[in-house]
Amino acid sequence: MFEVRNLKKVYRERVVLEIEHLSLPQGETLALAGANGSGKTTLLRILAGNLKPTEGETRTAPPVLCLPQRCYAFRGTVLDNVLLGARDKKDEALALLEETELLALKDKKAASLSGGELQKLAACRLLVSPCKLLLLDEPTSACDAAGTKLVLSLLSRYREKTGCTVVLSTHTPAVATQAANRLVILNNGKIEADGDPQTVLRAPESDWAKEFIAGWRI
Ligand SMILES: Nc1ncnc2c1ncn2[C@@H]1O[C@H](COP(=O)(O)OP(=O)(O)OP(=O)(O)O)[C@@H](O)[C@H]1O
Ligand SMILES: [Mg+2]
Repeated sequence: MFEVRNLKKVYRERVVLEIEHLSLPQGETLALAGANGSGKTTLLRILAGNLKPTEGETRTAPPVLCLPQRCYAFRGTVLDNVLLGARDKKDEALALLEETELLALKDKKAASLSGGELQKLAACRLLVSPCKLLLLDEPTSACDAAGTKLVLSLLSRYREKTGCTVVLSTHTPAVATQAANRLVILNNGKIEADGDPQTVLRAPESDWAKEFIAGWRI
């Protein structure tokens, strides 16, 4: 689970995040949406403990795992990368690579992967370990439709196995509706819509949300 109260992040007098209260029970999945610069990464980094809020409190259930918006490869092969921090889990690592269709690339240098392949690898590297709170910053942004499906099904299996809480950000409505049971839309750092994804998309509460969602459907 996680809970934030009276959260504020200010950069040089500019408020980029301001959330009075947001909480998510254990086992639920929240999708975060909103335009570029609306505060999604800022919120995820605060939840991950990688960024200090200017004001406010956060409560999270450790261990917390976080997939950053910009994926990177460590030195070594694709398989080496999944085994980082999970040396004794070779069978699980190979199963994850198979599930994401990366098994044929397991002995390739990780640095040579394409953007989408690298993103799938980063997901495998993370999901080889269990956690209570999983934070994913645009986890399928570099994936094609097939890759997106693979990552979402991997996520769903991981969630069933671990019972973890998930917060993921996305610019893709289908990812929000398929992966999450709740959708929050941020507008300039503030919560503009919050609810069941289908309901938020079908019947947005505010004029702003209506316009945002209309644009989102392009
Ligand atoms: N270190 C920083 N210093 C100053 N401003 C920052 C810093 N980090 C982020 N910001 C600003 O905070 C705002 C929110 O950024 P954030 O990365 O959270 O947006 P986002 O919703 O994740 O956007 P995107 O969809 O592009 O990933 C942006 O306007 C950004 O320019
Ligand atoms: Mg971001």
